[in-house]
Amino acid sequence: MLLLLSSVLFSKEQVEYPQQHICAVKGSSVVIHCSFFCPETAKVQSVKWGHERSSIYTGPFIFDSESNTSSSRFQYIGDNIHNCSFKIHQVEHDDEGKYAFRFTYRNKNKMDAFTGNVGPVLTVAALKVRLTKLNGNNTMKEGDSVNLTCINRCDGDGLSSAFLWFKNEEPVNDGPVLYLNNMSHTDSGNYTCSLKTHNGTTSGVRNIDVECDNITLICTSKANPPVETYTWFKMNGHNIINIGKEAELHFRKILHHDGGQYFCMASNKHGSQKSSLVTLKIKGKFIKMLLVV
Ligand SMILES: *[C@@H]1O[C@H](CO)[C@@H](O)[C@H](O)[C@H]1NC(C)=O
Ligand SMILES: *[C@@H]1O[C@H](CO)[C@@H](O)[C@H](O)[C@H]1NC(C)=O
Ligand SMILES: *[C@@H]1O[C@H](CO)[C@@H](O)[C@H](O)[C@H]1NC(C)=O
Ligand SMILES: *[C@@H]1O[C@H](CO)[C@@H](O)[C@H](O)[C@H]1NC(C)=O
Ligand SMILES: *[C@@H]1O[C@H](CO)[C@@H](O)[C@H](O)[C@H]1NC(C)=O
Ligand SMILES: *[C@@H]1O[C@H](CO)[C@@H](O)[C@H](O)[C@H]1NC(C)=O
Ligand SMILES: *[C@@H]1O[C@H](CO)[C@@H](O)[C@H](O)[C@H]1NC(C)=O
Ligand SMILES: *[C@@H]1O[C@H](CO)[C@@H](O)[C@H](O)[C@H]1NC(C)=O
Repeated sequence: MLLLLSSVLFSKEQVEYPQQHICAVKGSSVVIHCSFFCPETAKVQSVKWGHERSSIYTGPFIFDSESNTSSSRFQYIGDNIHNCSFKIHQVEHDDEGKYAFRFTYRNKNKMDAFTGNVGPVLTVAALKVRLTKLNGNNTMKEGDSVNLTCINRCDGDGLSSAFLWFKNEEPVNDGPVLYLNNMSHTDSGNYTCSLKTHNGTTSGVRNIDVECDNITLICTSKANPPVETYTWFKMNGHNIINIGKEAELHFRKILHHDGGQYFCMASNKHGSQKSSLVTLKIKGKFIKMLLVV
């Protein structure tokens, strides 16, 4: 209806953009809707889209139906009659700014061109992960709880996109908020979110490192006959200190001087076997380690 009415009203050239401000998430695709009209007697020869980055009205154009050099990210999804809609795939920050549609046509054996004046403005927003923690500083301890919220600046009030959550690039959950309750060191990792509809919209990484004040080094062996004695050693400069006789070496509370290199020895009546060295790094962050000899 609108289209018909417009074409009657504007028997002259005209370009219309129903949306003047468009916001898109980096990595997603976006459509700039557009309608155009040219004199009844005219025949459209070419369609072009300009961006303010290059000279918006005179080109070079980011899309030109007469040229084959446009990036494949730019797709003309309109036609040669009234629809000049334009799709941008894998939106980048550089795509921000003003756009304008231009067309050339032949009318009564004369070539002419027309560019719509004020084009729509595209804003590009990257997804962000916001972390909220009820108390304390940003040091994570076992038992702490945090919420990770995926923020899409393009979402208006009350509107929320559908999100997916990833931990170390593996999908873990969906929804706007990832609740990490009663965390343990296994919750440590790199968290990101993305739009459900476009997996290329991945946010920046939010690293979570849960400190654990309780680690266990486990010496295991498949020896046959089974192991009779386990011994744990710690390297201390050039010396080797015997520090335990169980298969498992527990650290209830890690102290700075616990940092260093460890190995274990497993023995049965046929002999002994030594594990490789494992390094315990004291950075306020620990992981549980499994040692196999
Ligand atoms: C573009 O078109 C020209 C002439 O039609 C041709 O020589 C050239 O190989 C084309 N380039 C690409 C990338 O298709
Ligand atoms: C133009 O074409 C696009 C893609 O097919 C479509 O989504 C849009 O609704 C059309 N616009 C008009 C005004 O017909
Ligand atoms: C965080 O708070 C704890 C005590 O609540 C303190 O020991 C630690 O040094 C603080 N860490 C930082 C990075 O401020
Ligand atoms: C996480 O969100 C829930 C629900 O909104 C809220 O009850 C809880 O207090 C939040 N936790 C943190 C750590 O912000
Ligand atoms: C928190 O997790 C630990 C072990 O993962 C468990 O023993 C404890 O009961 C949990 N606490 C709550 C409040 O769920
Ligand atoms: C998390 O990201 C950091 C920095 O990119 C990387 O060094 C680390 O290996 C990552 N951790 C995991 C578990 O993927
Ligand atoms: C993203 O989607 C494409 C196509 O649907 C798929 O081939 C690709 O494996 C997906 N990538 C991830 C990281 O999920
Ligand atoms: C530490 O280890 C002891 C013994 O294995 C266990 O009872 C305790 O719950 C552990 N604490 C944490 C925070 O994991």
